[in-house]
Amino acid sequence: MVQNIEGSRFDALFGVLMSFVGLRALLIVLDIITRLLSDYVVFDAAIDVRRSVLKHIQDLDFSFHTTKSTGSLISAMKRGDGAFFTFHDALHNGILEVFVGFITMGYFFGLVDPAIAVITFASLFVCLIITAFVIKLNINARKKYNEEEDNISGIIVDNIINFETVKMFAKESWEQNRLKLAFIPWRKALWDYGLTFRYMNASVGITIVMTVFLILYLAIKKVSLNQMNLGDFVLVLTFSNTFFPKVFDLVWRFRDLAKHFADMEKYFSILDNKIEIKDPKNPVKIKTIKGEISFINSSFAYKGNKAKVLKNIDLTIRQGQTVAFVGRSGSGKTTLIKLLLRFYDLTGGKISIDGIDIKRFTKSALRSFFGVVPQEPILFNNTIKFNIGYGKENASFDEIKAAAKIATWIILSNRCQLSTIRM
Ligand SMILES: Nc1ncnc2c1ncn2[C@@H]1O[C@H](COP(=O)(O)OP(=O)(O)O)[C@@H](O)[C@H]1O
Ligand SMILES: [Mg+2]
Repeated sequence: MVQNIEGSRFDALFGVLMSFVGLRALLIVLDIITRLLSDYVVFDAAIDVRRSVLKHIQDLDFSFHTTKSTGSLISAMKRGDGAFFTFHDALHNGILEVFVGFITMGYFFGLVDPAIAVITFASLFVCLIITAFVIKLNINARKKYNEEEDNISGIIVDNIINFETVKMFAKESWEQNRLKLAFIPWRKALWDYGLTFRYMNASVGITIVMTVFLILYLAIKKVSLNQMNLGDFVLVLTFSNTFFPKVFDLVWRFRDLAKHFADMEKYFSILDNKIEIKDPKNPVKIKTIKGEISFINSSFAYKGNKAKVLKNIDLTIRQGQTVAFVGRSGSGKTTLIKLLLRFYDLTGGKISIDGIDIKRFTKSALRSFFGVVPQEPILFNNTIKFNIGYGKENASFDEIKAAAKIATWIILSNRCQLSTIRM
């Protein structure tokens, strides 16, 4: 008889044990499946985002590129890329798990004492409200910090790109000082950002300590009045120990989401930059052009400048004609060429090639008609072959060698003039 009761008790407990182990195993399998699925989607999404952002940056107007800071842009992009991954991780793999944990624990608390369950969830609610408030502060502080961080990155990248100029003017220590000064607001922004975490720790921490006190006070009172047995008391104690660290966990996960959100917001705002020099809806498509260029009553002023750089220019360059623009520095020679390539649009008049308004070509078709030798030699971090062959897709190695030979010859025969110009 006794044996039998003990046997059935063991069976019942063994059943509980089995369902516990089974549940854990199921959770592990589910966790692996969700992570696999989310990785599958997120990797492709991350590739799409990076490609779209680069494409948009390429499409953006010349004026965007002359005013932006490369270092700041790269810094915002790198941060955004990272945040894109971690945001998904925090969202899909974190929050849900913590919430399921809460519901399970709430259920057990409810079994022991409904009053304790109510106090626990009320405290959770208060913590979430505090979190929502502090997270707003946190996001704003993060944005300010990001600005400062991008500024720092801008200075460093400027120094790396323009190393020749820095050395030429012996500005090393001046640049170091510039960086040192930029770190003053950076440090303050980071400090303010850090402070918002301390607010969160303090406010959520105090709420939790008060809640634990209240719960245990209730429990002790019930034990002393013999309304609760010691076993249940231990259970309450254990659950409190597990439950409240989880609240902190949840708060920190929300904090993480907020941080990634702020980082991604700036990243995606790159896509909000408008393209003003637009391609036509129905572009003219021609393979070859004769090459007659006409400026007809053309005027242009840079944005924000009232003074016109070019005023009512009429000019025709016939096919095969060689023309040199001569004028004082700042008279508008480079601007004229930039207008021809549609880096900017005229503010009045028209430019045409073979009688066709250049606005009727796509920008890439228009630019493919030209070969440009810039004032400053610019190289990609790649082989000499890559750099010489850059202007012509699928250029053969022989063509590249021929171009290199011609260029050497031109440089040698112009050496004196070139050095005069470059000084
Ligand atoms: N991006 C710009 N924004 C505003 N003004 C500019 C810009 N680029 C050039 N300018 C101004 O336009 C005028 C013509 O410049 P530019 O075409 O470079 O002259 P040049 O090539 O003949 O030396 C100058 O007064 C110059 O300051
Ligand atoms: Mg010029």
